[in-house]
Amino acid sequence: MKKHILSSLLLLVSIMPIFAQKTGTIAKNGMVSTAHPVASRVGLDILKKGGNAFDAAVAVKFALAVVYPRAGNISGGGFLVYRTASGENGSLDFRERAPLSASRDMYLDKNGNVIKNLSLKGALAVGVPGTVDGMYELWSKKGKLPWKALIQPSVDLAQNGFELTKAEADKLNIYQDVLKEMNGAPNPYISPAGKWKKGDRIINKSLANTLTAVRDNGRAGFYEGKVADDLVNTIQKNGGILSHKDLREYKSIWRGTISADYRGYTIHSMPPPSSGGIALAQLFTGSEMMNLSDYKHNSPDAIHLMTELERRVYADRATHLGDPDFYDVPQAMLLDREYLRKRFSDIRMDKKTDSQRIKPGKVNRIESLETTHLSIVDKDGNAASITTSLNGNYGSKLMAKEGGYLLNNVMDDFSSKPGTPNQFGLVGAEANAIAPGKRMLSSMSPSIVEKDGKLFMVVGTPGGSTIITSVYQTILNIIDHGMSMREAVDAKKFHSQWLPDVIVMEEKSFSSETLDSLRKRGHKLKFASQLGRMDCVLVRPDGSLEGASDTNRSDGQALGY
Ligand code: GLY
Repeated sequence: MKKHILSSLLLLVSIMPIFAQKTGTIAKNGMVSTAHPVASRVGLDILKKGGNAFDAAVAVKFALAVVYPRAGNISGGGFLVYRTASGENGSLDFRERAPLSASRDMYLDKNGNVIKNLSLKGALAVGVPGTVDGMYELWSKKGKLPWKALIQPSVDLAQNGFELTKAEADKLNIYQDVLKEMNGAPNPYISPAGKWKKGDRIINKSLANTLTAVRDNGRAGFYEGKVADDLVNTIQKNGGILSHKDLREYKSIWRGTISADYRGYTIHSMPPPSSGGIALAQLFTGSEMMNLSDYKHNSPDAIHLMTELERRVYADRATHLGDPDFYDVPQAMLLDREYLRKRFSDIRMDKKTDSQRIKPGKVNRIESLETTHLSIVDKDGNAASITTSLNGNYGSKLMAKEGGYLLNNVMDDFSSKPGTPNQFGLVGAEANAIAPGKRMLSSMSPSIVEKDGKLFMVVGTPGGSTIITSVYQTILNIIDHGMSMREAVDAKKFHSQWLPDVIVMEEKSFSSETLDSLRKRGHKLKFASQLGRMDCVLVRPDGSLEGASDTNRSDGQALGY
């Protein structure tokens, strides 16, 4: 008998690794997952000092502006989706706006054609920054620790320097020439040796001065006084239109969330001017209607069905979404179950739908994984999910002359000309046309998932137009496929966005049988080196937290205590 028990135990132990889940960072009290280890450390220190998730989010946001200059920012913008310990959900929109002198056709030549690069590079590409106003507003309403304590770590990092990771050194090297062309040298981001390498130190005294002004004067430290004068001078001397009035009048906006139920879970994400919330709600509603959970993870049937849903959802995005303060977004219609039932009713499992049949348009490419995301949960259960951006890598490449920081190129997120694609290959229509003071449509989708009315997951990623599909797949990986947070983040991803009419797949991740099966249904396939760069936190059944940063695709790190 004893022998029998022993052999059963041995068998159990031998098969355990098959079932063991690969997990991320596990901790009880708090978790910070960001794109950079130094920023994660700053956030963790704030939590340990008694700060809440919102304090930590503010501190991380400014730290990323120093150590992750390609996307972390003080002159960009973004969105927060939050959940408080008492269960209140909401969002903060600190998205940039078009300057008040902006006009609908400002990027078109006299023949009505888009002038290449005008919305992407240099002073005219810059939208009115929202980051400092947004962080100050967040701290004013939800912070606990003194403001100065949240900004000081970033002042120190800029003043004393930080070490480049290999990925950051490599990325900066790609942009050395254009940064020199736009800003001259010496410059903190241009290597005195000609090339950056891992371990090199960047000290940015000008940025330390700017951050000191923000530390000491809050919002006014950026939107008024010397910092504002320098920002406006830099832009106007370089042919841009941003003014002091733009800075004075910028205001972030508290909004609700767009929420969708999926198989007993509720997904809360960002309402317009982000397209993320509506698109995710449409995708999850469609997934439930079409019984997506019956299909195996990343099987040809699952990829086909998800692509067909995405095709229709991105067509709606292009046509109907824009800044709700300027355009009457038909939100109720887009989320209506009957509308969605009809919208998805012509999906066939054996054959793809031609995107041109859904709605005509013309696009060419998808690129750039820029933007950055942070997910934070504190010991009381407050949760912050922030996605923020300069838009392209290092934004417009232009830096504030005295301020030491890069300026965004977010004006490219508008539809410069209906039907003509932006840098993400996204087309837009009237809903996202340029107007003075209007916010440009975004794909940033910071999200929070609840189960049984309790916090379950905090999720988000950079990736331009691929943000929505990466967030969608990561959430499905947990809910439908029972993965750990680490596994859901690591899992191979694919992306489709109506136009261009292709599925973009992570290279070397899918079997030839899978690719053949998709091609047989008519899909054109393209390959990308990576999709998604997630930063997430999962609440496990025992109440502990699992943080997972996309360490296979980036330098990110999840730290807990
Ligand atoms: N800048 C990328 C986005 O907002 O979607």
